[in-house]
Amino acid sequence: MVYLDNAATSWPKPESVYSIVNRFMKNSCANPGRSAHQMARISSNVVMKTREALAGLFNIRNPLDISFAANATHALNMAIQGVLKQGDHVVTTAMEHNSVLRPLYHLREKGLIDYSIVMPYDSCGNVSPSSIAAAIRPNTRLIVLSSASNVTGTILPCKEVGGIAAEKGILFLVDAAQGAGVLDLDIEAMNISLLAFPGHKGLMGPQGTGGLYVAPGVEIRPILYGGTGSRSFETIHPDFMPDVLEAGTLNAPGIAGLGAGIQWLMEVGPEKIREKKKLLLEAFFEAMDNVPSVRIYSERDTGKNSGIISFIIPGMDSSDIGNILDKKYGIAVRSGFHCAPLAHEALGTMKTGLVRISPGYFNTIQDMEYAAMAIRQIAGG
Ligand SMILES: Cc1ncc(COP(=O)(O)O)c(C=O)c1O
Repeated sequence: MVYLDNAATSWPKPESVYSIVNRFMKNSCANPGRSAHQMARISSNVVMKTREALAGLFNIRNPLDISFAANATHALNMAIQGVLKQGDHVVTTAMEHNSVLRPLYHLREKGLIDYSIVMPYDSCGNVSPSSIAAAIRPNTRLIVLSSASNVTGTILPCKEVGGIAAEKGILFLVDAAQGAGVLDLDIEAMNISLLAFPGHKGLMGPQGTGGLYVAPGVEIRPILYGGTGSRSFETIHPDFMPDVLEAGTLNAPGIAGLGAGIQWLMEVGPEKIREKKKLLLEAFFEAMDNVPSVRIYSERDTGKNSGIISFIIPGMDSSDIGNILDKKYGIAVRSGFHCAPLAHEALGTMKTGLVRISPGYFNTIQDMEYAAMAIRQIAGG
């Protein structure tokens, strides 16, 4: 199988990730942050090391400002449902994933908030910071923006939008699902107040991992209440990070794996990883040159693309193309709507969907050439 579905979840993982999860499960998988015995202390240390690695990666001063989550969806829900209050307005874009849109729909349905959705200005899903600025109202409390579109891979203007949010005193939530481990995300340089990230995509950790950074001073309510190992006699759930968002036992084996994933990332070097993705995308684009029967919706300029190529063959449904790639050629891609319905509406692909190719560090130029050859054959070109 040629796996080209890393935007959904990265595979394979570095060997160190498999081995630490296995070792940790067998040798020291006690409950972190609860008991004081040796095994629990080892567990707590591993969790803290991963927090520190994440803090280093995103330029976060205090690792305790990061809470762990089960995935990016969980982290986005904690952020959106945790900070918004009655009467707030939110600015977001049509390029967002349902894990941003559905919590917003839910809060509006309950009569709590209102939102404005900014449209992209081209067929790659680029969004202009000025159109986001134009949608701000006096009661806008939050701007939500993806670091990169999961439909087209287009890198969205987080730095510029963070500047606008900071100037207006508005909270800025970045959905880093497609950016974490891929783009240079710096919470200070980008004025990010809340950063939601998955652990199982670009950070190379196991599924069931993710997290949310909450800037100091941002008031956040929990969406889950329960045991935190702290202030057990109080009836009120703790209001300090990370306990406020970490009710219940953490996924310590997964977090250990996430730590190993980030360590691998730092050892290889983010620059080298970006360079590899660039080479893979370029190899595909080159191999697809002069095939007019394939319509590509992703930036060809690899500096503007997080590592995705989405396309359609007019006259075919994306799921049929995905099935042929899987069954006939042994190539794993994602077809359909990528949980981003408004993006497909904006791009005009809501009838057919798109086929998404997302290579990872372990793919080869040959994988990309093979995929391009298969697509050319399917397109008859
Ligand atoms: C942009 C974007 N946001 C959010 C998510 C949700 O991530 P998770 O599957 O970790 O919940 C995804 C998943 O693909 C995504 O691409």
